[in-house]
Amino acid sequence: MRDQFGRTIDYLRVSLTDRCNLKCIYCMPEEGIPLLPHEEILRIEEILEILREMARLGLKRVRLTGGEPLVRRGLIDLIREAKHIQGLEEISLTTNGTFLKGFAGVLKREGVKRVNIGLPSLDPEKYRKITRLGDLKTALDGLNSAIEEGFNPLKINTVLLKGLNDDPVPFFELISKLEVEVRFIELMPVGRINLDHLFISQEEFLKKIPKGIELRERESLEGNGPARKSFFFPGSKGSISFIPALTGHFCRECNRLRLTADGHLKPCLFSNIEIDLKPALRPAFDSENLRGKFNEALFKKPKEKDLFNVSKRFMTQIGG
Ligand code: 5AD
Ligand code: SF4
Repeated sequence: MRDQFGRTIDYLRVSLTDRCNLKCIYCMPEEGIPLLPHEEILRIEEILEILREMARLGLKRVRLTGGEPLVRRGLIDLIREAKHIQGLEEISLTTNGTFLKGFAGVLKREGVKRVNIGLPSLDPEKYRKITRLGDLKTALDGLNSAIEEGFNPLKINTVLLKGLNDDPVPFFELISKLEVEVRFIELMPVGRINLDHLFISQEEFLKKIPKGIELRERESLEGNGPARKSFFFPGSKGSISFIPALTGHFCRECNRLRLTADGHLKPCLFSNIEIDLKPALRPAFDSENLRGKFNEALFKKPKEKDLFNVSKRFMTQIGG
């Protein structure tokens, strides 16, 4: 699949549900969001049809997201079927980690390649404050289970919040012990949540790294995300990297589309453009129609992000 600007699109992020057991402040409003009615949510078989059709057109990698993908019934069936789709080389998953203890084993057995874990703080109180409902210990247990199962590379997503989790030192302690890559992500103003006062740029954050810590550069763990260079210090097992989601410019390398739980294809995270796939799936699956919709999404994929017209969906309805 190619878009108007010559970008090859071979990566799809699939949001399996808009539900989540946490309520991170950057992802949804305190009062929560009206959840999608059951019949609006794509069935596992419908998602598989989409993946099969897209794989015929060059889709190579899929990342399952949410909300929280581990609360979606049928997740394992989906993975089991999807891994037989010809052309699909990799299935990965982004989770908040809180259910990973029970899932890491089966995910590994079923062939999930990579697991990314959202971990906004290593301090129990701050973690609770940011996730509103979460318990740090549960998330860390999940993280450890994933490590025990041999998920490697294991990446941790840390959305940077000024004054809340922008002290790099605890994260350095973590990577001195664990072989993980902590990715510091700039807060994105997606979904009508105004947290401008908590925004801290990568550049400002870098200034907070204590002088004594001498970071060395290396290629990031192999992956398909935008964080390329990673940094480590002598003796550290893991590394850190940055995703300057707001101040960076990686639209030119964008390789992805996003599928929402209710079957809308989003060509760009920062835009409200959506293509509803449901008419090509219901009442009956229509592969030609579906291809037409994929082409429409490719055609409408913007050249770059437009911060004046960011998506009205909350992050939990998109999946990052
Ligand atoms: N800005 C940046 N990253 C976000 N995520 C969720 N909401 C935001 C936001 N507003 C990240 C979380 C999660 C991933 C799917 O998206 O770190 O792990
Ligand atoms: Fe849930 Fe992840 Fe959103 Fe937090 S960022 S509320 S864990 S979907």
